[in-house]
Amino acid sequence: MGLHGLAHRKFDTLVIGAGGGGLRAALQLAQAEANVAVVSKVFPTRSHTVAAQGGMNAALANVLPDNWHWHMYDTVKGSDYLGDQDAIEYMCRAASHLVYELEHAGVPFSRLDNGKIYQRPFGGQSQNFGGEQAARTCAAADRTGHAILHALYQQNIRAKTHFFDEFYAIDLVTDEEGFILGALTLEIETGEPLLIEAKTTLIATGGAGQLFRTNTNAHINTGDGIAMVLRAGFPIQDMEFFQFHPTGIAGKGMLITEGARGEGGYLVNSEGERFMERYAPHAKDLASRDVVSRAIAIEIREGRGCGPDGDYVHLKMDHLGREKVHKRLPGICDMTRTFLGIDPAEQPIPVAPTAHYTMGGIPTNRHGQVVVPVGGGEEPVPGLYAVGECACVSVHGANRLGGNSLLDIVVFGRAAGNHIIGYLGEHRYHRRMDEASVERALDHLHRWDRKGEGESVAELRAELQATMEKYCSVFREASVLQEGLEKIHAIHARVGDAVLRDRSKMFNTARIEAFELENLAELAVATVTAALARQESRGAHSRIDYPERDDQHWLKHSLFFLDGQRLDFKPVRMRPLSVESFPPKERVY
Ligand code: FUM
Repeated sequence: MGLHGLAHRKFDTLVIGAGGGGLRAALQLAQAEANVAVVSKVFPTRSHTVAAQGGMNAALANVLPDNWHWHMYDTVKGSDYLGDQDAIEYMCRAASHLVYELEHAGVPFSRLDNGKIYQRPFGGQSQNFGGEQAARTCAAADRTGHAILHALYQQNIRAKTHFFDEFYAIDLVTDEEGFILGALTLEIETGEPLLIEAKTTLIATGGAGQLFRTNTNAHINTGDGIAMVLRAGFPIQDMEFFQFHPTGIAGKGMLITEGARGEGGYLVNSEGERFMERYAPHAKDLASRDVVSRAIAIEIREGRGCGPDGDYVHLKMDHLGREKVHKRLPGICDMTRTFLGIDPAEQPIPVAPTAHYTMGGIPTNRHGQVVVPVGGGEEPVPGLYAVGECACVSVHGANRLGGNSLLDIVVFGRAAGNHIIGYLGEHRYHRRMDEASVERALDHLHRWDRKGEGESVAELRAELQATMEKYCSVFREASVLQEGLEKIHAIHARVGDAVLRDRSKMFNTARIEAFELENLAELAVATVTAALARQESRGAHSRIDYPERDDQHWLKHSLFFLDGQRLDFKPVRMRPLSVESFPPKERVY
């Protein structure tokens, strides 16, 4: 027992979240003999990385000519020039090494006949700075995330990482000088709090896809770490940029990998037209995601959607042959059989743009350190790191390329692990915790002890998601965003009064869903506020009333602060580490 009589544990590093980013960082640390704890609200191999399908980008050049510099160019262009070019260079240069590392860790990548790792074409990829389509995505069939997550988990077990499975992190705790010293957590099974004290804390809690009703994300993707950082008084970055994947199963949301188009599938409208030829004459169905999602939304809006309500388009693969479809996309075949009763080698899949990926998040540098603006520049928050989808480093800028998220998590997971090892060498002792910060976290923990009759958490969550989908989707406009913001504010206020109904029969998971709802409501306010402020169209943020990209006024990252719900802005890091920068130019595919 420690502070306030709380059960209390001490580690060198606390990692919150057990997806690929958290596990890659933990592995680096455990192999360096740091004492590392991973807290995860689900069993680690249920983390959302498990759902990543199509693959991980690296310029191995196993199928077509390639190099990391072309990959860097595509990523900068894909980001609509909002990505930070130092971080993008770092990621693309490291990619091949990280793929081989994963291979050696046990990831069963698909193979070419010559034994090399199989690579498929994905959206937004080119050879030679915008030339012919590249084939850069290393795949384990269409279950790449599953393979990576399991390999990383097993390696962590071997390295003796300490896992706290099914523990939920409530809030960060600090010392009086603002060093981050761990978190207050809740053991979900027992409902008992556990204070985990650490010299360094790394947040790797994934994205916030549950902000939207129809999404490709796991139920757990509620932006917990991003909201935790916001509550700790730090800003979050670029929340207006949310990726809609072009091919979620219509009305249901399950992901149909971009790999389906990479293998040669294509989209058709109700007239049987291969419409992407009009929107992206060169890249067609493998244009970047923002472009394809907008094209589908326009086809639907203009009355060329399929089905009784004209609200989806078809993804066709019947020309590819049964053998290829079943060999390269076995998971998709399983999913469409289960949920639609069809075989994609024979019948088209109904698809529509579906909320997929949080480009914004916790601002970090390329070492994974969380950074805050100070004077004209920025400084790291001592002891605090973030990696993966919850972080905004920012390699994805305004639009992420498919296949770059698995890459992001392992590259920056490892980088943060390495930086933490250095930090631990310089900060060898635990600092004294500030009791007030523990008390604040405890107050938060007990906020959901309230009982009685009131609005239900589940109903409020559904209302929030429907509101986000209606008012802040693929296309945006001031009057719609303004109305949406008012509704989101009202929902946010109601969250403060919601209760857990009928606690006598309640599982502790209901309490977790209440914390998750708070997180979602806070992030919804941030997202719509930033979307309303950004008066331009860039990447996934497409304003009908400001249809052009405006580099003169808006080539900058947004920062949202909880205090006063205010926005600030900071420059994009345009200077790479060792090569010439890619200045903004017109983005066509
Ligand atoms: O389409 C997909 O397989 C998704 C990949 C990604 O989001 O990177």
